[in-house]
Amino acid sequence: MDAISVIRAKRDRGELTDPQIDWVIDAYTRGEVADEQMSALAMAILLNGMTPREISRWTDAMIRSGERMDFSSLGVPTADKHSTGGVGDKITLPLAPLVAACGAAVPQLSGRGLGHTGGTLDKLESIPGWRALLSNDEMLAVLRDCGAVICAAGDGLAPADKKLYALRDVTGTVEAIPLIASSIMSKKIAEGTGALVLDVKVGSGAFMKNLDDARELARTMVGLGRSAGVATVALLTDMSTPLGLTAGNALEVRESLEVLAGGGPADVVELTLALAREMLAAAGVHGKDPADALRDGSAMDHWRRMITAQGGDADAPLPVARETHVVPAPATGVLTALDAYAVGVAAWRLGAGRARKEDPVQAGAGVELHAKPGDAVTAGQPLLTLHTDTPERFPYALESLTDAITVAPTGTQFTPAPIVLD
Ligand code: URA
Repeated sequence: MDAISVIRAKRDRGELTDPQIDWVIDAYTRGEVADEQMSALAMAILLNGMTPREISRWTDAMIRSGERMDFSSLGVPTADKHSTGGVGDKITLPLAPLVAACGAAVPQLSGRGLGHTGGTLDKLESIPGWRALLSNDEMLAVLRDCGAVICAAGDGLAPADKKLYALRDVTGTVEAIPLIASSIMSKKIAEGTGALVLDVKVGSGAFMKNLDDARELARTMVGLGRSAGVATVALLTDMSTPLGLTAGNALEVRESLEVLAGGGPADVVELTLALAREMLAAAGVHGKDPADALRDGSAMDHWRRMITAQGGDADAPLPVARETHVVPAPATGVLTALDAYAVGVAAWRLGAGRARKEDPVQAGAGVELHAKPGDAVTAGQPLLTLHTDTPERFPYALESLTDAITVAPTGTQFTPAPIVLD
């Protein structure tokens, strides 16, 4: 077998055979297939697509490139959630302890932010002492003791995907449904969860800008999960405007704590409960309403135990940025748009995100929203507060917000998009 014949086959719109797929993934992981050869193949896949059989075999080969975790010794059903990424998407933080409080174990492998979307691990690292990197044994111990764990994926899990994702990131080959679906699902299947709920985001702040592409991605991932024996479901959810009232690391932890205390913004609570109900149903856990676990404090108890078990100080004050700048409403009327992508870029430019994997992030940086689409606003009232330790970033962040805000005349009928689209 050789790389050039595999690249040529896909370049010429052929269907790769199982031995070709197994060989190319294995040889790439071992370093026998070069990065330039794999990037040519990734581009051919992006342009010419893959059949369901090819996607399934490709995913399987990526799973076999590393280890598989097994949580069967826990003796309780496991459920995980994966979001395709968005702005202000802090849902994992309240969701994992909430589902644990209702009786399913949540092994949540999460990532860091890159570009305009935030990363769950960056958010949690704003809690003093909290550790994202756990050995497999530590992960299992936290899961057994606290019912939920949120941590980074170890190096042994789907190493082919780690290499390929970094390559796709720098070769313009991220946006291919077969490659996104196999990348996400290889890690989730290797992780060993029994149930999986996919939160596929749609809108300006998401990977998938329209409902048709999002639906195709969701269907592909659900098919892969189910054929691997993982009870998988997907929700398509709105990402045209940020989730909740904050985008930024410590700012989002603060908002998540409000949700766990029984308050918080309505859209964050609605999505957290919708995903919790899907996770519990997919895991076969019945009888407890997650809304009760927010009200009675049991979700907050699980959060505190989980944070403490991972070295965090659940009582420590969260970091606050040194400087703030208020953006006023440009007119009086009804706020009809607050663009998710623009707010995400502003938060990133203020220091909440990174441009390169090795960059540090500012814990206190980000954007706070004082109104959401559908709200009445008055010219000059605070609409956004920008937070950063480095005020020279304000003009740069403001530039990204130039066309982000739309205010329609008072009396305009406007209904914001529902949070769960399908
Ligand atoms: N997240 C992943 O893990 N992989 C992709 O390809 C895209 C998003």
